[in-house]
Amino acid sequence: MSCVRACCSMLGRPVLDRIGPATFSCKTSVPAMLRPLSTDDASRVREFFTTTGYTKDNLMDRLNFIELPSSRLRNLARLLDRTQSPSTLNALLRWFWLATPQTMAAVESLVPQWFIDICLDCGLLEAQDKALIPAVTLVPVQGFFIASDHPTRTEPDRVLGPNPTSWLLSRFSVDRPSRATLDLGTGNGVLALALAARSERVVATDLNERAVAFAAFNAQLNGIDNIECLAGDAFQPVQQRKFDLVVSNPPFYITPTIRYLFCENPQELDLMCRQIARQAPEHLNENGYFQMLCEWVQVRGQTWQERILEWFAGTGCDTWILLGHTKDPSEYAQMRIRESSRTDLDDAALYEGYMNYYRERGVEAIHNGLVAMRRRSGHNWTVIEDMQSTPNEAFGALVLHTFESRDFLQTHQSDESMLEVRPKLSPHARLEQVLQQQDGNWVPTSMTLRLVKGFPFSLSVQPLVAEFLGGCDGDRTLAELAHQLSARTKAPATQVQKECLTVVRKMFERGFLLW
Ligand SMILES: C[S@@+](CC[C@H](N)C(=O)[O-])C[C@H]1O[C@@H](n2cnc3c(N)ncnc32)[C@H](O)[C@@H]1O
Repeated sequence: MSCVRACCSMLGRPVLDRIGPATFSCKTSVPAMLRPLSTDDASRVREFFTTTGYTKDNLMDRLNFIELPSSRLRNLARLLDRTQSPSTLNALLRWFWLATPQTMAAVESLVPQWFIDICLDCGLLEAQDKALIPAVTLVPVQGFFIASDHPTRTEPDRVLGPNPTSWLLSRFSVDRPSRATLDLGTGNGVLALALAARSERVVATDLNERAVAFAAFNAQLNGIDNIECLAGDAFQPVQQRKFDLVVSNPPFYITPTIRYLFCENPQELDLMCRQIARQAPEHLNENGYFQMLCEWVQVRGQTWQERILEWFAGTGCDTWILLGHTKDPSEYAQMRIRESSRTDLDDAALYEGYMNYYRERGVEAIHNGLVAMRRRSGHNWTVIEDMQSTPNEAFGALVLHTFESRDFLQTHQSDESMLEVRPKLSPHARLEQVLQQQDGNWVPTSMTLRLVKGFPFSLSVQPLVAEFLGGCDGDRTLAELAHQLSARTKAPATQVQKECLTVVRKMFERGFLLW
């Protein structure tokens, strides 16, 4: 491909290809196969997939079609065996799940001609001799049908299908109406499609023109008409435009190689994510949110906190960083090599190349996480939170609540104003007590307060704090609650009040208390 610059100098030999935004211009490889689909045809195709049972509920939840064919899993033989009996659903599965051609003769009694004609017209299928060849993989997810490249495509401009990182960002994205939303690095467009329902209009951008073509096609296929798809590097396609919500699942892998544009970027270490975070505020309306997945490095002589906090300094945004996992470089290199699913590469050379890259730059660890920034005039805050796991359900409402809690704490900095608040324990808070046998009796040894919905926060608490929180019913002010506790425990009122204020602030911050 002309857009690929072969220049990897690792180990003194060209192990892999590198491509960069300046040289990446793949006009020639925009999938010729994807052609416009009329609203009527799109609706007929969706209806046909749905009535045939090519839906998430049926395929994934009932029939356990979870994995696409993969050389790493070596599952193609099994999938072919599972779809061998002649049925309409199996014909669709063989095309759009297994990426397997079928002869006209094999499918003519199973699939109506009108469906084949539409698929040939829009490019979902290609005819070659007597065979009908699927041009894309099609996955039913979140009520959409999403076309993307076959997983077997190994060119750098491969357009990936929906994947766990897409879901994570989708669940994380703030749940409120948006006048204008940007999905930067849209890929197949699945996030843009999901956000279209709560946005007046969505702009979906990608450096990869094949991705832009897929996103535009997927919008048509799913009958969504408020998405504008544009090609270009980072924010370049939306210069001077502002949004209520910007989301990005960028190619955040920290690797010395660029085999795939969807996950590896040409910039040093974590600089691409930093650059996106620093440019995003220019494109946010006041009170607009920017949310992304990212990875960042910890380098010798600097803490990881210092490195990530610098990204957000002076951006005019409040920022919430949720730390996910931390890996040491060797573990990270192995994970990324394994994920590439390529069996044609020399693992030892790859690994050495990765490790040299990290060693030369003093990389001691690689962290991943989620970032939410809100543009707000005034004195901004930045908070880092350790978040080993995230809720399985959508938690965009909780993100909004977290920002509101911080605002609330900022407007109630004085003890006087906080003492007037009537705190209420969250309905999702639970208290767990551990007892241990001592001298023939069960003796309480610890108490843990947990949230059973939303962020999985837990805190160990003293019995008196637990008792105090149990009394937070939303009726009594904090001053009254503290007074009652001091009277019952006969502890000095000022000390109890001070301790209650500290506890309450922490509990508001974590969502255990509501106001
Ligand atoms: C991890 S994929 C995310 C795809 C999709 N948004 C999702 O969440 O499933 C990253 C996307 O960013 C695109 N990309 C890479 N470099 C870019 C750049 N400099 N500007 C804009 N998009 C870029 C890739 O082509 C790819 O589609």
